[in-house]
Amino acid sequence: MAIANIIILYALAFIHNAWCSGIPKIKLNDGREIPSIGFGTWLGIAKGGQSLEPVVDDSVQKAVEWAIDAGYRHIDTASIYDTEEQIGRAIKNKIDSGVVKREDLFIATKLWNDAHARNEVVPALRESLRKMGLDYVDLFLIHWPLGHSTNMTFNNIDYLDTWQGMIEARDLGLAKSIGVSNFNKEQLDRLVTSSKVVPASLQIEVNLNLQQPALREYCKEKNISVTGYTPFGSLFPNRAGPNAPPPRFNDPALVEIAKKYNKSVPQVALRYLVELGVIPIPKSTTMARLRQNIDIFDFELSQAERDLLKSYDRGYRSVELKLWQQHPYYPFEKN
Ligand SMILES: NC(=O)c1ccc[n+]([C@@H]2O[C@H](COP(=O)([O-])OP(=O)(O)OC[C@H]3O[C@@H](n4cnc5c(N)ncnc54)[C@H](OP(=O)(O)O)[C@@H]3O)[C@@H](O)[C@H]2O)c1
Ligand SMILES: *[C@@H]1O[C@H](CO)[C@@H](O)[C@H](O)[C@H]1NC(C)=O
Ligand SMILES: *[C@@H]1O[C@H](CO)[C@@H](O)[C@H](O)[C@H]1NC(C)=O
Ligand SMILES: *[C@@H]1O[C@H](CO)[C@@H](O)[C@H](O)[C@H]1NC(C)=O
Repeated sequence: MAIANIIILYALAFIHNAWCSGIPKIKLNDGREIPSIGFGTWLGIAKGGQSLEPVVDDSVQKAVEWAIDAGYRHIDTASIYDTEEQIGRAIKNKIDSGVVKREDLFIATKLWNDAHARNEVVPALRESLRKMGLDYVDLFLIHWPLGHSTNMTFNNIDYLDTWQGMIEARDLGLAKSIGVSNFNKEQLDRLVTSSKVVPASLQIEVNLNLQQPALREYCKEKNISVTGYTPFGSLFPNRAGPNAPPPRFNDPALVEIAKKYNKSVPQVALRYLVELGVIPIPKSTTMARLRQNIDIFDFELSQAERDLLKSYDRGYRSVELKLWQQHPYYPFEKN
């Protein structure tokens, strides 16, 4: 009986390891590695589009626990998402029960816009670490290039100063890698050319409607990894804006590709991003969907299929944050 149990345990451990090693990693420019898919944890905008979805229950904690069980090792959060405490509890539970070790996980969080002063960066990260119960994060990102106070009054703190605070956080060992999010090409280039430390990662919106060829090309040149947020874009009708271009999840051409590989349309959309070299971070708090979203490493699209998917690029943004359009460091085109 005991021996049978041990054999079963070894078999399970073997299957588990084989499965986990099936998720490729990408080498960062600082020598560390990032898993090529991550788990998004922002609950998003509430129905009606006026306010944020309130973070009340433990849905994120449960989802992160399911995600780790499903093989996700990279978790994306931010102080503004208000999910760091739940994520911390999920990580602790999965470490305590022996499913993972801390070093198996890649945890990313972000600095909010109200802590852009150089001397506010390290304290803000310490607060995120306290909430998650961690000694360090694997990646710390400047969430947006623009600063404002808690009451939304804009300030002109230069993101180059903020970056010096990020470097201090890394030097203290509180963040293993540092990067930025929502910087445009000019802002990223200004940072790269004026700092000794090149960001290890750029996190931007990437999906079928917004494929970001110029920024991806720049990042490739500088060996900066690209993480793709809102990877489904307008695929689902309940998340598509009134002027959002096609395709939707039931688009006949996408359904045909999905059928060919015995996959779903969301899986095809994620697989396309992976093949572009982008690290998608899909969010789901639904067990079946989050499992499906990581099951994309056993098929490859054909060149003709990639060409078709490429043709959906319209430069259409799902995330614009128009309330910041008048800020001097607003990163996107104004309209
Ligand atoms: N840096 C930034 O400024 C920034 C901005 C936005 C987002 N992000 C990050 O990127 C992550 C992902 O972006 P996102 O949350 O905006 O959007 P997303 O991941 O593209 O889409 C999430 C939505 O898709 C649904 N969904 C997920 N998988 C599905 C599937 N297989 N079939 C059908 N529906 C599915 C989810 O529903 P259920 O949850 O109900 O299953 C949810 O409504 C965020 O959570 C956050 O971590 C970063
Ligand atoms: C990026 O930099 C890392 C660390 O120096 C290196 O190992 C990797 O090969 C580089 N990747 C590319 C595509 O240049
Ligand atoms: C907003 O906060 C800033 C910085 O704390 C302060 O200087 C400013 O007076 C505040 N503005 C309003 C309208 O409360
Ligand atoms: C198709 O995928 C489903 C769900 O992943 C799986 O259960 C089924 O066995 C697959 N069918 C084939 C023919 O591979």
